[in-house]
Amino acid sequence: MSTQTANARAVTTYRLLEMKRNGEKISMLTAYDYSMARILDQSGIDVVLVGDSAANVMAGFETTVPITLDNMIYHARSVTRAVKRALVVADLPFGTYQGNSMEAVASAVRIMKEAEIDAIKIEGGEEIMESVTRILSAGIPIMGHLGLTPQSIHKFGTYTVRAKEEAEAKKLVRDAKMLEEAGCFAIVLEKVPAALAEKVAKEVQIPIIGIGAGGGVDGQVLVVHDMLGITNEFSPRFLRRYADLHSIMTDAFANYIADVKSGDFPNENEQY
Ligand code: KIV
Repeated sequence: MSTQTANARAVTTYRLLEMKRNGEKISMLTAYDYSMARILDQSGIDVVLVGDSAANVMAGFETTVPITLDNMIYHARSVTRAVKRALVVADLPFGTYQGNSMEAVASAVRIMKEAEIDAIKIEGGEEIMESVTRILSAGIPIMGHLGLTPQSIHKFGTYTVRAKEEAEAKKLVRDAKMLEEAGCFAIVLEKVPAALAEKVAKEVQIPIIGIGAGGGVDGQVLVVHDMLGITNEFSPRFLRRYADLHSIMTDAFANYIADVKSGDFPNENEQY
């Protein structure tokens, strides 16, 4: 009998469940292109998320709403060409799964086939449950996303912390349990109080991956451009910057421009 898994990548959805059971924290970061994904994978990240935050950091849109399924497939294909080890998850973008569960399956099948990702991520709980069930019944693994769900920004009207009120907190716990019962393999919890996130992580068996949700959950995710300090106009409390690439890149570009202008570049060793 072959012991090969369906997915040649070493990190599987099953492995993430094991990690939660063993108390091993899960690391996840976003990537949208081949070069970044390759470095991330070689660094040993567990999950690479092709987030629809590509709309913000790659395309310069104010929200994630405008990005299309074709755009997401392009980014996801670039990432899967690079990643050998990590699990690759991609967002289904706004408008491709909320309204109609048949369209949801078609969107999920397209990105799975064309980008060869391992799983999709979608935002919402009870209100998208029909789409969740249909996508799962097509054999496509789903990572849920609750709390601040940026695709609904025009409904929320603000990017502030979610579920501070009891009614919204109760709905969030209910939604998390529904996603688990339906068969989702993990849930992202974005910008919710740490105590609530910890409670959810304790009450469900599937991994809870937080962003701005405190340390009591099973893993963490950040947008790679934010943690590397490439973006510098955005400084929420939850963001830890691991580098200041904005300054490093600005200096490098300024030095290159100066060298070209002065004729210092290229020198004799840098030509044929
Ligand atoms: O699109 C994205 O980058 C995300 C993360 C913030 C979780 O959904």
